Formats: sequence, C-alpha cells, structure tokens
Amino acid sequence: MSFYKSVKINETTELFLWKITEDYNDLYRKVSLKDVSLARLDGMKSETHQNAFLSVRMLLQHCGYTDFDLFYDEFGKPHLQDGKHISISHALGFSAIILSNENVGIDLEQAKEKVLKIASRFMDVSHLENLTEEDQIHKATVIWGIKEAIFKLKNEKGISFPKHIFEAPFELKDKKCTAQLHFNNSVEDFDIAFDLVEDYVFVCAMKKK
Ligand SMILES: CC(C)(COP(=O)(O)OP(=O)(O)OC[C@H]1O[C@@H](n2cnc3c(N)ncnc32)[C@H](O)[C@@H]1OP(=O)(O)O)[C@@H](O)C(=O)NCCC(=O)NCCS
Repeated sequence: MSFYKSVKINETTELFLWKITEDYNDLYRKVSLKDVSLARLDGMKSETHQNAFLSVRMLLQHCGYTDFDLFYDEFGKPHLQDGKHISISHALGFSAIILSNENVGIDLEQAKEKVLKIASRFMDVSHLENLTEEDQIHKATVIWGIKEAIFKLKNEKGISFPKHIFEAPFELKDKKCTAQLHFNNSVEDFDIAFDLVEDYVFVCAMKKK
C-alpha cells in the first residue's frame, strides 16, 4: 500500500502515515541509508522491526528528507538537521512521522484488548466508565498514546505515566483533548489530537499555546 495518508494537525504540523505491506527487499531497495543506520538495521532481530525502520525512511523521503537528514540524541529522540521538529512511531502494520515547527510527540498503537488489563497501572480508569468494551479499548489506547507522546516530546528522565501525566476527561468522538504534565515542581499543559486508522490509534501532543 505504501504511503497511506497525511493529516494536517495545525498550520505548521503534519502527520504522515505509512501502511507497511512491502517486504524487506522491496523497502531496502528504495531507501538510502547512512552507515550508522545500516548497522542498526543489521542488528535488528526481527524483519518486522526492520520493515518498520525502513518504512520510516520511506516516509522521510516522501517528505523531501532522507536518512542522512536524521540524527538521534543520547536518549534516542530523533532530530532533523534543518531544525524542523520530528517525532517517530511504529507499530506492527503502520509507521508514522510528524513534522512541525514546534516540539511535538507522536505515538501509534494497535488497539488491543490487553490494554484494559493494565489500564489501572497507567491511567484514571474512571475515564472508561459507561463505555462499550470496544470504546474502552480505544480510549485506554488513546490515553496510553497521550502519555507516550508527551514522554517523547519532553524527552526527560524520570517521567512516570501514572504519577506525572494526567489526561483531562474527553470523548472519543472529539478527536482532541488536553493533558497535563506535573513534573519537577511545575505544571505544563498540552493539546492532544488523536484518531483511529483501521485498528490503530495515533496520538499527537503539542504544548498548549
Ligand atoms: C522510548 C519510547 C517512548 C518508545 O516508544 P514505543 O511505544 O516503545 O515505540 P514507538 O514505535 O512508538 O517509538 C519508537 C520511536 O520513538 C523515538 N524515541 C526513542 N526514544 C525517544 C526519546 N527519548 N524521546 C523521544 N522520542 C524517542 C525513536 O524515534 C523511536 O523510533 P526509531 O528509533 O526507530 O526512530 C518508550 O519505549 C518509552 O521509553 N516509554 C516510556 C516508558 C514508560 O515510562 N512506561 C511507563 C509504564 S507505566
């Protein structure tokens, strides 16, 4: 399927999705990789992970960048040489990048029943009351994604999902909400945009203006 779609989040922020249906050789042939990326690719244990990694490079190329424009800091956060902000996420069947003029975080998760088993460990489960089981799964997955996306945006050691990141009540149909990070004696507000794509959830987090 290749390039799946883009979603404009605001004037300077756009999300790009890739549906991973190609095999390894198909993807490998189409990307140019730095030596350090070739070594990383070589060290990956599963072809699923390799394909996700390569599909992210396909998305970069779709957006006019290549692997040579991308570098990682000591914590693993990706950056672009031209100063544009980027965040990356990949799941089994999809990958996503988001590009923005501001710091941004993205998470992509497949909605799975097992999220309900661990929900109490990372979120306020009262936010799942009075929903069908399907909606509970989607909402808990969105909330997990909110926390991952804020974690990626901040890129600071010591942030705990249950102790420091709090989602405000929201409804799935709104496709947006807000969340707060209570960390290091300060409170930061975030705008969240989310949606469902097939059985995957994507979540974008940006600092509230
Ligand atoms: C690093 C982390 C955010 C990655 O998330 P994930 O859901 O496992 O995987 P995703 O596919 O969504 O994201 C992976 C991408 O995140 C990016 N990433 C990795 N570390 C990052 C960091 N410190 N900051 C921002 N982005 C980061 C990378 O681009 C990576 O992909 P790539 O290396 O192939 O380019 C995650 O493993 C993590 O550490 N989460 C916090 C753990 C936690 O507190 N859990 C709470 C349990 S209650």
